[in-house]
Amino acid sequence: LTGRWFQNDREVETVPIGDRALHYGDGLFETIAVRSGQPRLLDLHLDRLELGCHRLNIDKRPIATIPDGLQFAIKTAGFDGADCTAKIILSRGEGRRGYAPSAMTQPVLRIGIFERTSYPVEYYRDGIVVSLSKVRLARQPQLAGIKTLNRLEQVLAAAEHAEPGCTERLMMDTEGNLICGTMSNVFLVLGSTVMTPAITHAGICGVMRRHLLRTADKLTIDCEAARIQPEMLQQADEVFVTNSQIGLWPVRACGKLRWRPGPVTRRLMAGLEQAGISECRL
Ligand SMILES: Cc1ncc(COP(=O)(O)O)c(C=O)c1O
Repeated sequence: LTGRWFQNDREVETVPIGDRALHYGDGLFETIAVRSGQPRLLDLHLDRLELGCHRLNIDKRPIATIPDGLQFAIKTAGFDGADCTAKIILSRGEGRRGYAPSAMTQPVLRIGIFERTSYPVEYYRDGIVVSLSKVRLARQPQLAGIKTLNRLEQVLAAAEHAEPGCTERLMMDTEGNLICGTMSNVFLVLGSTVMTPAITHAGICGVMRRHLLRTADKLTIDCEAARIQPEMLQQADEVFVTNSQIGLWPVRACGKLRWRPGPVTRRLMAGLEQAGISECRL
């Protein structure tokens, strides 16, 4: 469950007490699906990390070492040619006490390798049940889109009591806009248009969200990133969520609302499968 961790081609089991990731969540992470020994959608994960480094002003040089570091970690952990999950943590590094980062602080990259998590085929075939979380996401444009190590809102939401059978919770921001799931991005199909919340003030720009938008474009399915109120769920013909590990799960219920995995969702799942997301094969 804790995985095996590597830093500069060495296996590590501990973190120095002065690491700013521990004190302030001062860093970024990525969770990458590894299929047949190859990190999937690596270019998109590295792109988001680079954006995160730019926003947080963290030295981005360690990113260049990630492809080789991943190969080493995957092989050493015994997943050469196999499926697993890789987690990358890029910390600003060790520093003195106090918020201000020192110019001396060196970024530290760690790579963790975990067993692959598999999900029931029904999630893909029939859809999942979601609920609306009571936890609201703070609006902070400087942090919106990137995957920082601060995920306390998701921790609170995931710890909420939910009705039995609920697999994911949808989250709103403090202004009541629908933003995302605790671990996923959300999409609503209205007629022939796919809508997804604009990630400008809260939420993470998911790698699978980007891959889906790209796939939809190839399929000439209209997509729009917009401000979405949760009431729009009542008008939605289809709803689904995405992330880089699961691919796409149709949503079949949220409270009293019910949907079926419809034609647009199915076309997108087929498109994603063609574009390397084998989980979407039914
Ligand atoms: C809060 C949140 N939003 C969205 C996502 C989806 O991101 P990705 O598609 O990069 O996995 C995740 C993934 O864990 C997440 O935690």
